[in-house]
Amino acid sequence: MRIAVVGSGYVGLVAGACLADLGHDVILVDNDQSKVTELRNGHVPIHEKFLPELLTRHRGQRLIFSDDLKQAVGLSAAIFVAVGTPPTESGEADLSYVESVAREISGGISDYKVVIEKSTVPVYTSDWVRKIILRSGTDPQSFDVVSNPEFLREGTAVTDFLFPDRIVIGCDSLRSAEVLREIYAPLTDGSYYRRSDAIPQPDRASIPPPIIVTSAKSAELIKHASNAFLALKISFINAVASVCESVGANVNQVVHGIGTDTRIGPKFMNPGIGYGGSCFPKDVMAFRAVARECGYDFRLLDEVMRINEDQRQRFLRKVRSALWTLRGKKLGVLGLAFKGGTDDIRESPAIFLVQALVQEGCKITAYDPAAMGRAQEVIGSSVCYAKSPYEAARDADALLILTEWEEFSNLDLDRIRGELKYPIVIDGRNLYDPEEMAAEGFSYYSVGRAASYPDGVPTTILRNSKKA
Ligand code: UDX
Ligand code: UDX
Repeated sequence: MRIAVVGSGYVGLVAGACLADLGHDVILVDNDQSKVTELRNGHVPIHEKFLPELLTRHRGQRLIFSDDLKQAVGLSAAIFVAVGTPPTESGEADLSYVESVAREISGGISDYKVVIEKSTVPVYTSDWVRKIILRSGTDPQSFDVVSNPEFLREGTAVTDFLFPDRIVIGCDSLRSAEVLREIYAPLTDGSYYRRSDAIPQPDRASIPPPIIVTSAKSAELIKHASNAFLALKISFINAVASVCESVGANVNQVVHGIGTDTRIGPKFMNPGIGYGGSCFPKDVMAFRAVARECGYDFRLLDEVMRINEDQRQRFLRKVRSALWTLRGKKLGVLGLAFKGGTDDIRESPAIFLVQALVQEGCKITAYDPAAMGRAQEVIGSSVCYAKSPYEAARDADALLILTEWEEFSNLDLDRIRGELKYPIVIDGRNLYDPEEMAAEGFSYYSVGRAASYPDGVPTTILRNSKKA
């Protein structure tokens, strides 16, 4: 099928590349001309596993890039809308890009088209998109609007798209449901997975994915509620971690104990410095706002956001309690991205903490495997950038772990200790075991677990005996 995808950001670019890999002819449209040129010239603007391969495989063949939306609509049977829906001052989702794209789409509708919401949007958006297209004089029979929310996570976006837990189709006509079934048929009939060049199946995936057909409103709510519930789970376990710290319990043991309850499950219960990214913060706010508009006071979501904000302050207090005064302290920082596996720093807790610590007079040397370029655009030369985790630790009073990159959980601890001025690690992602770190000679502070010290003695005053 010929498909247009509007907006080549994290969601649009991944969706476009994967739809081409399913065998569709895809026109990826973006109104940012420089982005279109870069994509045509082979540049991959985001850090996502498997994406470079897919773009190389299909660029210029089943995947073309354009800034001519009207033409792309005219040539396509289905149009995915994946433009930004950033938050407004008051927390609502800003749908002005979605509206302007809807207006442009109406200009290209001659034969039957399905307009598909891929961006995360509040309930009622599909009604508004339909109204906008009708207001432009489009024949009501010549199009349908469908909600097809995307659940991909950054860092695993390609495999999340191709091996989804479910495919949700929110539509109010059988005809449009058929079009969406046809688009995803290579996944739901399993034929894609039988291909020798298919993207490898991740362990967690069960194939083929089920299709869940609902009304458009229910589908829009499924997306907001899913993100809000995942954020709730994270804030819940962070709150439990705070209780653990007060009573000297171990949050990992608690997670294991509650997570083995099949009604709860262990996923998305990693305590840390809080959630960030381009989705959870804005989607929880947007869901809160749309619920209020609909007359429901969803105060639970306020608490989810409050706990998340508090997690950052708690970590700052932890750094102070480990180092006493901060002015002039030299800190090594591992991680700037909002999570491991991505170069995205939007709403990154790590960036927030680095800026706060610089504000308090700390000298920071930071390392991140992929996000230093984007971080430089925001925090510039207020910090130094290292070429490795070990360089970041060099002569530092302490090492902070702020992003859960896998490589940060397999560090050469001997070497880290050798680089540090004081063997102090403050881990905002619980990547290490407190006892092991104490045995390795570190004073180790983490989230929801008691601090551990070599020989069980707090070492803030002890010089790094191993360093000459
Ligand atoms: C988007 C949505 O913002 C988010 O709500 C949803 O959860 C996932 O999809 P993302 O892909 O990360 O998120 O957005 P972004 O990286 O901002 O990309 C949006 C792209 O749309 C940009 O490349 C932008 O240039 C393009 N765009 C925006 C258009 O092509 N036309 C427009 O009118 C507006
Ligand atoms: C999220 C949703 O998972 C995805 O389904 C949706 O489509 C977009 O939003 P993303 O934001 O890319 O995806 O990453 P995710 O893996 O969900 O992590 C979000 C934040 O929560 C990150 O800052 C991460 O560090 C944090 N997190 C995640 C925790 O603190 N603990 C956890 O257990 C899981």
